[in-house]
Amino acid sequence: MKILVTGGAGFIGSHTCVELLEAGHDIVVVDNLVNSSRKAIEAVQGITGRKFPFYEYDLLDKAACKEIFEQNTIDAVIHFAGLKAVGESVEKPLLYYRNNLGSTLNLLELMRDYSVNSIVFSSSATVYGAEASIPYVESMPRGKATSPYGASKQMIEQMLEDQVVAEAGFSAVLLRYFNPIGAHESGEIGEDPNGIPNNLLPYVAQVASGKLEQIGVFGNDYPTRDGTGVRDYIHVTDLARGHVVALEKKAAQPGVHLYNLGAGRGYSVLEVVDAFSTAVGRKLPYKIMPRRAGDLPEYYADPVKAKNELGWQSEYDIGRMCADTWRWQQKHPNGFEEE
Ligand code: NAD
Ligand code: UD1
Repeated sequence: MKILVTGGAGFIGSHTCVELLEAGHDIVVVDNLVNSSRKAIEAVQGITGRKFPFYEYDLLDKAACKEIFEQNTIDAVIHFAGLKAVGESVEKPLLYYRNNLGSTLNLLELMRDYSVNSIVFSSSATVYGAEASIPYVESMPRGKATSPYGASKQMIEQMLEDQVVAEAGFSAVLLRYFNPIGAHESGEIGEDPNGIPNNLLPYVAQVASGKLEQIGVFGNDYPTRDGTGVRDYIHVTDLARGHVVALEKKAAQPGVHLYNLGAGRGYSVLEVVDAFSTAVGRKLPYKIMPRRAGDLPEYYADPVKAKNELGWQSEYDIGRMCADTWRWQQKHPNGFEEE
């Protein structure tokens, strides 16, 4: 298949490009590089030994993006492009709604105009909302969004569901990611946050490399096994393979196909710090801090539906996730910047 990958220079997108190419698919990538680097595209080409068209276009620029559909016969779209910082979305909700919803509307209109009937969308566990019981199961309704970012994911899920009703033959695969971490085993692509990382793993990796002094553990008084927050971490390569399988199995089947992509088990912050310390070979310093506003104590996926219907489950454990993150961090201490 020829797949248009939006946001393909980003963290999850670049890893998925590698897996798509290695599975024998052709790809076309569009990304405006607002949160990524052209170096990621070059690295994907280096890892796979394959070239592909890359368009540095903003999906908000529909006229420019029309060219992509004119110049390539696209079979399906994987839509990663979007802004994803939860805190920033609270400060700048209009930016998040404009970017995430506007991009998706343009994309869906172009797909309609060029008769492209399949989309795989990057959704998030956050759509279950703060009140959902754990583990999260796909049969649960979407809950009350806890941020404009989460609301944009819920709205896009709704847009895709409506499009399935309206367009005969349309297939929408909604993949709800849990906490993607890790990096490609080559150490040539990985997560490259701007500034001081908000998320746990990039922060821990920068403490390990000496860029940051110590890990701040946000709360140790949650009702969890050691009092720290528990999340379902999943290796980004497992997640990327989940996209390839979902596409191969569901792109040609009209309808809404909803799957959790998680490992189905949680690790606490202290367990992650321990696992990363093992990968590095020394104890990493940490300090207990107050809780971070908006954090939930614990959540993880029920991964059974993806296993039964897609034959997909995560393979890599937390040790491997930390070892691969550490390899990427060591090879590229400043991300893609320095090269
Ligand atoms: P990322 O920021 O690394 O990748 C997103 C990419 O989209 C970036 O390369 C960015 O430059 C591009 N982009 C943003 N707006 C664009 C626009 N208007 N036009 C063209 N390109 C644009 O993020 P990621 O971690 O790879 O996440 C990919 C997707 O998965 C996002 O939609 C995100 O919300 C979703 N998601 C991520 C996580 C996570 O923990 N990383 C969890 C759940 C869902
Ligand atoms: C956050 C987002 C979520 C998004 C995900 C991936 C919030 C409230 N949620 O998830 O919507 O899909 O990122 O981008 O922002 N922690 C520390 N110290 C740190 C950083 C984190 O102790 O320096 C703890 C957190 O309290 C949490 C766990 O580590 O218990 C994981 O945090 P993080 O990596 O930020 O992911 P989430 O909060 O699960």
